[in-house]
Amino acid sequence: MSLTESQLRATVAAHMPGVRADLDNLVRIPGIAFESFDHAEVDRSAEAVAVLLREAGLPDVKIVRAGGQPAVIGRRPAPEGAPTVLLYAHHDVQPVGDRTAWLTDPFEPTERDGRLYGRGAADDKAGIMAHVAALRAFGDELPVGVVVFVEGEEEFGSDSLEELLLLHRSELAADVIVIADSGNWDIGQPALTTSLRGIVNGFVEVRTLDHAVHSGMFGGAVPDALTALCRLLATLHDDAGDVAVEGLVRREAAPLDYPVDRFRTEAGLLDGVSLIGTGRLVERVWTRPAISVLGVDAPRTTEAPNALVPVAKAKVSVRIAPGDDPKKAFLALATHIERNAPWGARVTVTLEHDGAPCVIESSGPAYDAARAAFGAAWDGVVPVDIGVGGSIPFIATFQDLFPEAAILVTGVEDPDSRAHGPNESLHLAEFERVCIAETLLLANVARMLPSRG
Ligand code: BES
Ligand code: MN
Repeated sequence: MSLTESQLRATVAAHMPGVRADLDNLVRIPGIAFESFDHAEVDRSAEAVAVLLREAGLPDVKIVRAGGQPAVIGRRPAPEGAPTVLLYAHHDVQPVGDRTAWLTDPFEPTERDGRLYGRGAADDKAGIMAHVAALRAFGDELPVGVVVFVEGEEEFGSDSLEELLLLHRSELAADVIVIADSGNWDIGQPALTTSLRGIVNGFVEVRTLDHAVHSGMFGGAVPDALTALCRLLATLHDDAGDVAVEGLVRREAAPLDYPVDRFRTEAGLLDGVSLIGTGRLVERVWTRPAISVLGVDAPRTTEAPNALVPVAKAKVSVRIAPGDDPKKAFLALATHIERNAPWGARVTVTLEHDGAPCVIESSGPAYDAARAAFGAAWDGVVPVDIGVGGSIPFIATFQDLFPEAAILVTGVEDPDSRAHGPNESLHLAEFERVCIAETLLLANVARMLPSRG
């Protein structure tokens, strides 16, 4: 006999202390897939995830890679006639950034005021643990087949993902996929994410001189590369702050109102600093392009001599709208940069990573199952459909490979999670609801979906 809703809720609640302890242990592993970091830690984190999946009752667990960082695949076949659900998360995390801005050690999970602080506490180690919590809740009575896929280089552009999915295509086939790597609209207000922007990150290098020269002897007639780079970067937006690069897709967003005051507070925007761009806020952050400068290579201010800088480089990030194409967008960016180079400066534009945007069809039995599960987990508050401005390249790749599968993008983040920033954290009470929701979702999918033929 299948477990009832209240039995499942009680079981999840009973498992939460163990889930929390295992989440703490994952947060202690600094697995960062970026080039200059110690990838032995990414291996360690993959191994820790593999152990969790085995202990959660998946008979077939392995660590796989295709030239990049290790992913973990864990499987348990479907009971006769039942559908299969793929559960996605990623185990790599972003670099910590400015360590002095962290109130506590980023890799020592610390609880304060109902939140768990640490790099990856929300993005996305809690996503992994939500899957593990659901598996633990069912134990031997899992009513669906399960494939857990935990990627190891999501934060570094998922370069080997396509290859990995092709290599393991038949093992990954599923009727429904649950991507626990997004977030909710607010504390107490669950959401399903139905569109994500894509991303195109590139480097812009500007050269004006073949060596540095005395700024007093040549300044006034010779352009330095850093000033040239600044002028070039300034052409990326118009005076209103809208993206000025031609040829990027823009579309309309869901009819949801993002109150400006709430948005400003969530962003931590300083008083007196204006927002940029025009149009509805949700369009600016979900369904239109955005361009930001993420870093610059130039002399440090404390060490800069009185010399004209011969070469300077910026990392430029373009978030592209759902419906746009990363290759086309990169071309649009490169063309704009080449056309706008000031003073004949030599510029080169190179691609770092890209990832496709996506739009998700949000109706059908899997969505009915999800909305019912979320409504129950949040005591009657039905989930809203949201877009997000961030990117999960896995989704478009998966949509291409398995066009029939229903995709549900869920997650643990809330407006205060500060993913990618200092003091990232997880709201622990909401996390428990996410675990309950996923558990009820699997039960609903077993009841409401036909099995794969
Ligand atoms: N979890 C995020 C995606 C996300 C961001 C969801 C904001 C909801 C709100 C994901 O881990 C992420 O940050 N992805 C990278 C992808 C990139 C490296 C290709 C991103 O968006 O920067
Ligand atoms: Mn993530």
